[in-house]
Amino acid sequence: MQPHRLFGCVLVLGSLLLAASADSSPIIGVLTQEVFSNGLISQHFENKTSYIAASYVKYLESAGARVVPIWIGRNRSYYEDLMHKINGVLLPGGATWFNQTNGYADAGEHLLQLALQLNDNGTFMPVWGTCLGMELLAYKLANGTDHRINCRGTGMALPMELKEDYKQSRLFNASNEAVVALMVKENVTYHWHQFCYTEADFARNLLNKSWRVVSVNSDLDGIEFISAMEHTKYPFYGVQFHPEKPLFEFVKPSIPHSPAAVLSGQYFADFFVNEARKSPQSFANATEEARVLIYNYKPEYTSILGSTYVQQYLFTDKEMQLEEIGFEGGDDGDDGPSYFPPGHVYGDGNGAAAFLSLGTGPLLASLALRLFSIDF
Ligand SMILES: *[C@@H]1O[C@H](CO)[C@@H](O)[C@H](O)[C@H]1NC(C)=O
Ligand SMILES: *[C@@H]1O[C@H](CO)[C@@H](O)[C@H](O)[C@H]1NC(C)=O
Ligand SMILES: *[C@@H]1O[C@H](CO)[C@@H](O)[C@H](O)[C@H]1NC(C)=O
Ligand SMILES: *[C@@H]1O[C@H](CO)[C@@H](O)[C@H](O)[C@H]1NC(C)=O
Ligand SMILES: *[C@@H]1O[C@H](CO)[C@@H](O)[C@H](O)[C@H]1NC(C)=O
Ligand SMILES: *[C@@H]1O[C@H](CO)[C@@H](O)[C@H](O)[C@H]1NC(C)=O
Ligand SMILES: *[C@@H]1O[C@H](CO)[C@@H](O)[C@H](O)[C@H]1NC(C)=O
Ligand SMILES: *[C@@H]1O[C@H](CO)[C@@H](O)[C@H](O)[C@H]1NC(C)=O
Ligand SMILES: *[C@@H]1O[C@H](CO)[C@@H](O)[C@H](O)[C@H]1NC(C)=O
Repeated sequence: MQPHRLFGCVLVLGSLLLAASADSSPIIGVLTQEVFSNGLISQHFENKTSYIAASYVKYLESAGARVVPIWIGRNRSYYEDLMHKINGVLLPGGATWFNQTNGYADAGEHLLQLALQLNDNGTFMPVWGTCLGMELLAYKLANGTDHRINCRGTGMALPMELKEDYKQSRLFNASNEAVVALMVKENVTYHWHQFCYTEADFARNLLNKSWRVVSVNSDLDGIEFISAMEHTKYPFYGVQFHPEKPLFEFVKPSIPHSPAAVLSGQYFADFFVNEARKSPQSFANATEEARVLIYNYKPEYTSILGSTYVQQYLFTDKEMQLEEIGFEGGDDGDDGPSYFPPGHVYGDGNGAAAFLSLGTGPLLASLALRLFSIDF
């Protein structure tokens, strides 16, 4: 081998290693969601006003990411601060309307506005929407026009029906042929939704200019809907199905757990976490990071109480109002950062400036829902 070629190899390898070590463990924000005042969680747990299904956390962790919960019901400065520190956002599925004040959809709007701005400003900020999260992505980027139609898509395990030009999508341009062959042959994706988007509607309203449809599927009545999409300009991705469920949810017998279904779910986790690795942002220091990570909370075993989620993280209004950082105590001599046990009050609480200035926002206590959308 000629010397200059060897040098070239070393250079390329060196820069790959640098890139990988700089941000190889991205931190992804997962949006919380309001619980129903008369629902299962409220019946069993006092004062819990929001949740994250633990499967979304495990899903991201399985691909090498760490997770920070993003609270609902906060003001702009909270979301703005956090969005300058995390490396990606996951909007999970669930059961809520888009018209509730201070809930999932309002928080989602802040996050998406900020993600658009960050990307426009040259800072890579990927967003992933699963099921209701995909619906929220499309809805907010259509400036609040709801293009969803009713669908009968509950409890379906289906193969991917990739569009002919799927190889041109970012989601699949680097995909392994063997994995794709399994995805299109076996029932790898799990659907549980009562709404969906159609290609015809996207074309009619020119949403097809901003979204590339990557795959479609048909509901129980044969209505074809968009099952995976990516934004043509921004690193935004949406799937109507649940890649996390074959790996981490076991309550419904209809959820596929075959090797192919697990591989397929993992494919999407790996893809998105790799996107987040491209984000250059970080927290100010290890303490600030440790203080907000999901490890501060313990998931509850909720399927045993009747939930379709095996485990859920549940949060009270109080937990969603982070204490101030303040004095950081005698860990300065330690090798690593100080990690606090769950429930520990960080700092002495007397510090002046709160780093995440959190509103006390009246959180949904009086929320009384007659109907709700179930796009788990
Ligand atoms: C729930 O909130 C009420 C009112 O603040 C409080 O008295 C009660 O102790 C809380 N319960 C739990 C389990 O935290
Ligand atoms: C929110 O939307 C749902 C479904 O369209 C509707 O039933 C409900 O009345 C709406 N709630 C408010 C507060 O507008
Ligand atoms: C993007 O840049 C504009 C103009 O400099 C600035 O006002 C805005 O705050 C930036 N947005 C974010 C999310 O950093
Ligand atoms: C939404 O509004 C923005 C800003 O006005 C505009 O650039 C964009 O084209 C609109 N999108 C749709 C789908 O109407
Ligand atoms: C896939 O697309 C991304 C983003 O456009 C690009 O950076 C990458 O090089 C492409 N990969 C392949 C294998 O074409
Ligand atoms: C996928 O599911 C359908 C409907 O349940 C079933 O008919 C089909 O045999 C399944 N395909 C595979 C490859 O398991
Ligand atoms: C979007 O749909 C319209 C109407 O069918 C069509 O004219 C246009 O070419 C489509 N655009 C893209 C990017 O597919
Ligand atoms: C960590 O960052 C926070 C927020 O910027 C700051 O208040 C704190 O003093 C920093 N701690 C250390 C040890 O640098
Ligand atoms: C956000 O809420 C905090 C805490 O209540 C408050 O100090 C801050 O002024 C609020 N920011 C805005 C922009 O309203």
